[in-house]
Amino acid sequence: MVELALPKNSKVGKGKTWHKPEGVKNLREFHVYRWNPDDGKTPQTDTYYIDQDDCGPMVLDALIKIKNEIDPTLTFRRSCREGICGSCSMNVDGTNTLACTKGTAEVKGPVKIYPLPHMPVVKDLIPDLTNFYAQHASVEPWLQTKTPEPQSEWLQSHEDREQLDGLYECILCACCSTSCPSYWWNSDRYLGPAVLLQSYRWLVDSRDEATGERLDNLEDPFRLYRCHTIMNCAKACPKGLNPAKAIANIKKMMIERQL
Ligand code: SF4
Ligand code: SF4
Ligand code: FES
Repeated sequence: MVELALPKNSKVGKGKTWHKPEGVKNLREFHVYRWNPDDGKTPQTDTYYIDQDDCGPMVLDALIKIKNEIDPTLTFRRSCREGICGSCSMNVDGTNTLACTKGTAEVKGPVKIYPLPHMPVVKDLIPDLTNFYAQHASVEPWLQTKTPEPQSEWLQSHEDREQLDGLYECILCACCSTSCPSYWWNSDRYLGPAVLLQSYRWLVDSRDEATGERLDNLEDPFRLYRCHTIMNCAKACPKGLNPAKAIANIKKMMIERQL
């Protein structure tokens, strides 16, 4: 029988347990992934306690409280705290989500917080999204036209505009791509659900005139066709979007242009 052993430093150990306040009625426990590239140690999960009656309702509120009042070295990204910027994406209670829209009350027992899975980690809860952004840039996510610029603006019918619904709302949080098994194993060559949804957003835009070139750019055994319709992406999206459907539509466009 084959025996697989994990590399020595790949196991997440138990870290520090921070002060547990006494006599608090609504105490919540948080287990948070910690890793610092500069200290040479393996990753660990630290335990923190929060008085939930003295904290906002979202997981991000708890993280901010921990950073402000308990442990200033805890590192994570956030900006809008409204589910709009996509920067606070992380894995909470086993699910990729936005910390600012995930209610602490939605989690039973200790709240387990990890960075987005299968990405290199910069520090603590911050994944390295360099490859993700480069892949986004590779689909040239902007309007491309060949006909002369109109005097005022590029017009679009209401029906054509509606084609962008369910696509333009994507905030590039990467929750879908980092929940996709195909992307876990092939992120060097497969574009993943987020970037393919972004690509379809321009493919289906009635004003764009680079459809052929965009499809040529995706015609590759890995870039597009590594999607096996497992649908984790649609389940993971905190904005309720369906990247798998967008990918299926791109595949349909690929076939239709050969007819
Ligand atoms: S449907 Fe495709 S993109 Fe979505 S999780 Fe499955 S393989 Fe990944
Ligand atoms: S499709 Fe959803 S999960 Fe994926 S990047 Fe966009 S908003 Fe995030
Ligand atoms: S902080 Fe902007 S999406 Fe959460």
